[in-house]
Amino acid sequence: MLHTNVKINELGHLEFAGADVTVLAKKYGTPLMLLDSERVKSNVNVYVNGLKSAFTPTSFPCYASKALSIKEIYRIVKAQGAGIDVVSCGEIYTAKSVDFPMEKAFFHGNNKTDSDILYAIENGVGYFVVDNVEELNAIDSIANSKGIKQNVLIRITPGIDPHTNAKITTGQVDSKFGTPIETGQAFDITSKALALKNVCLKGFHCHVGSQCFDSTSFIDATKIMLTFIRDVKNLFGFDTEILNLGGGYGVRYVESDPEIDVLKNLEIVGKTFNDILKEYNLNVKTVILEPGRSIVANAGLTLYTAGSFKTIDGYKSYLSIDGGMTDNPRFALYGSDYTVINASKASLEKTVIATIAGRCCESGDVIQENVSIQQTSRGDIIAVLVTGAYNYSMASNYNKLCRPMMVAIENGIDKVIVKRETFEDLIKNEI
Ligand SMILES: Cc1ncc(COP(=O)(O)O)c(C=O)c1O
Repeated sequence: MLHTNVKINELGHLEFAGADVTVLAKKYGTPLMLLDSERVKSNVNVYVNGLKSAFTPTSFPCYASKALSIKEIYRIVKAQGAGIDVVSCGEIYTAKSVDFPMEKAFFHGNNKTDSDILYAIENGVGYFVVDNVEELNAIDSIANSKGIKQNVLIRITPGIDPHTNAKITTGQVDSKFGTPIETGQAFDITSKALALKNVCLKGFHCHVGSQCFDSTSFIDATKIMLTFIRDVKNLFGFDTEILNLGGGYGVRYVESDPEIDVLKNLEIVGKTFNDILKEYNLNVKTVILEPGRSIVANAGLTLYTAGSFKTIDGYKSYLSIDGGMTDNPRFALYGSDYTVINASKASLEKTVIATIAGRCCESGDVIQENVSIQQTSRGDIIAVLVTGAYNYSMASNYNKLCRPMMVAIENGIDKVIVKRETFEDLIKNEI
């Protein structure tokens, strides 16, 4: 199977994290999102241990909350000693609600409003990742009004295109994120940060893109960023403490995606980092990576109930499910690949080609087009694999549909971690 936490049991049903998913679908109803807590822990630990050994002893990962921002994830990340990347006050609020140590939080975003900045400062966010000069000045002025000096990193665009999906690449010069090296503006913002009284510059950040299956773009980013850090030292006499290389390692959604050994890749990038550090005589103490997808994607799976199956003669077949773009908009947004299995009949050959259609009044509400699946009858449980990242966190209530429930499986025991939304929830803010 695609990942080691997915199996077929002796009843021919799909098993996830050791649990028969058809049993869970019956117990909790569908659509249902499952989370393999052990897998989240082990994924975080690959980065916790790998960064320390491949880079420097104080290096650590910051989980990119945007992939899945729920209390249970913050509890796990906190227990493993990692930090977090947050992009909104809502993510800060959620992390704080489980007493996440906010000094390990890095606040991102290309447009932090004044009230966002104030909220983050008042809630003890450790670091701001500054996008541009205007924002830098706003942070300085709000920090001044609160009588503090705020730690910051500056987000740099290194001018790299990792050649994945254009909508998930951010490292190229023409990007809404960050300040570019190529135009000279990265040096300008650095000198401004060093001159301000209420910000304390700790280092630099870059994020090249997502779904990277090797370390080419991380190696390129390391070279460019360390060269920039050396130039900054020569120009301003500033010693960079922290280099944050962003997120982006890929995840296997379908059999044709390559396997990736994150630990090995960290070692490769770590070697480049340490070689250049020596060559340039730099003293960067801490390297941070911000994995999101590679922490939670393969720890998630979504279950639906099959509805009607219809064939448009001479065209194609549609299998309708009781969820869709409201719980997983990634096919609609990016044309993302997914593996779909009839969990009730998982041991059968996949003999049918069908488009898996959601229930919204929207032709684009499709989870996967022309995918192979087992012969399916109304009421069968349909599993979509590898849905832990950017599914629930991108979910909506379009067509006034309730967001699904999420159930965690830990050591074979299932527990609800996010309740199913109710109709009352749907109208609670309406007057
Ligand atoms: C700044 C930043 N860091 C980290 C990530 C996480 O990327 P991934 O989920 O691909 O690891 C993203 C994703 O958009 C990002 O924009």
